[in-house]
Formats: sequence, structure tokens, C-alpha cells
Amino acid sequence: MNLIILGAPGAGKGTQAEKIIAKYRLPHISTGDIFRANIRSGTPVGLKAKGYIDKGQLVPDEVVIELVQGRLSEEDCKNGYLLDGFPRTLAQAQALDKITKIETVINLDVDLSKLLARIVGRRTCPVCNMGTNTAWDSYTKECPKCEVTYIQRPDDTEETVKNRLDVYNNQTVPLIEYYKRAGVLKNVNGMGTVDEVFAGVVEVLG
Ligand code: AP5
Ligand code: MG
Repeated sequence: MNLIILGAPGAGKGTQAEKIIAKYRLPHISTGDIFRANIRSGTPVGLKAKGYIDKGQLVPDEVVIELVQGRLSEEDCKNGYLLDGFPRTLAQAQALDKITKIETVINLDVDLSKLLARIVGRRTCPVCNMGTNTAWDSYTKECPKCEVTYIQRPDDTEETVKNRLDVYNNQTVPLIEYYKRAGVLKNVNGMGTVDEVFAGVVEVLG
């Protein structure tokens, strides 16, 4: 299965991706996570990407395309993969079409006005990368598994999120039509609980 999970910032791509990869046994390729790991270890790609990410802008297409092309050529992607956060521009989608064949694009359909609160409340475990949200009843300050304090992403400030949502509307929304025309788009309601959304995902993936 060669899959893409598409959706606005905070739509729940990463949250659903964790469940999808566990059920369908696919590698999870999140360009955002790859950039954050590169920033943490101070690689040239990380240094290049940081300025864009901190402002809520997109990293230039050529940088991302090269990164994804390299990742998709690795052994674990031979029998399928789940792309999360890529593609985000028409140029990236066209480049991807030259590299591989996408079978299904899951589009998480969400109410954009609810996303700011979701993103600002997001917290992540720095060790196991598990996500949580300050709005959830189950929220605690520490990851119960790793016993370390959750951290907040530097680009999850209110001002940066507004930029990210503008960028999504201007540059990524056209991909919905692009994949609809290609006959591979599946819309899933992203506004229920995490488990309800996942049930919708499983319904389209089978
Ligand atoms: P990236 O990391 O991809 O961020 P994003 O697209 O802005 O999306 P998020 O990760 O913020 O949201 P998500 O949809 O994964 O939601 P999540 O599941 O965490 O990219 C970051 C930056 O990297 C970009 O701005 C750009 O600069 C750069 N970049 C990355 N890819 C690029 C590319 N291809 N080209 C150029 N630049 C690129 O959920 C959010 C919160 O809500 C969490 O707290 C979660 O617990 C909670 N939540 C999830 N589902 C539910 C639910 N159903 N109900 C209630 N709460 C929920
Ligand atoms: Mg994410």
C-alpha cells in the first residue's frame, strides 16, 4: 500500500498515522518529523529547514523532494509506506508521481476554525514521540511510559500556526482536487474522537 495522509496543520495526520502504521505495518514517513530530527542533530538539512519551520513557511520544494526520494528508495519502503506532510505543493505532488505510484490519499476533513486550539494544546514526548493534548481528560505533564516531561513544538505558537494555516490554504488545498482527478482521494471526517476518525480511515482502506 502506497498511502498519503493529507490534511491541515493539526488535522490529526500524525495521530492517525501512528494507528495506520501499526495496523497495516507500513513505515511512517513524516517530513515534519524528519526535519525536526535533523534540527535536533544539527545536520545541514536541519540548519536549512529551521528558519522556514520556525516561521511557519514551507521548506523549499527541492530540499523536501530530494529528502523524500532518498527515503522512498530505502529497503523498508519496498512493500508500501505512509507519507505524512508530503506532498504539500503541486510541484511536490508532480515530482512524487515521477518517483512512485500512489494508491490512496486519505484526506482528513476538519473544521479549520477548531485547529488553532488543538495545535496550541499539543504536547509530545521527547523520547517516544507519543502525542497528547492539554485539552484531553487523560492529559498529564509527563509521558506515563518514559516518565519525562512532554515538550511543545517551537512552531506551535498562535502566530506561527496562523501562517501555517494560510500556507495550507494557498499551497496545499489544491492537492485535494489534484488527487480527486487522479481518482485516488478518500475523504474521512476528521472531527470525531481519535478512535472515530480511525474507524473512518479503516473503512476506506479496508
Ligand atoms: P508538520 O510536522 O507536517 O506539521 P503540520 O502539517 O503543520 O501538521 P501537524 O504535525 O501540526 O499536525 P498533524 O495533522 O500531524 O496533527 P496531530 O496528529 O499532531 O510540518 C511542520 C513544518 O515542517 C511545516 O510547517 C514546514 O515548515 C515543514 N515541512 C514539513 N513537510 C514539508 C513539505 N512537504 N514541504 C515543505 N515544508 C515541509 O494532532 C494535533 C493535536 O491534536 C495533537 O495534540 C493531537 O493529540 C490532537 N488530536 C489529534 N486528533 C484529534 C482528535 N480526533 N480529536 C481531538 N484532538 C486530536
Ligand atoms: Mg504531524
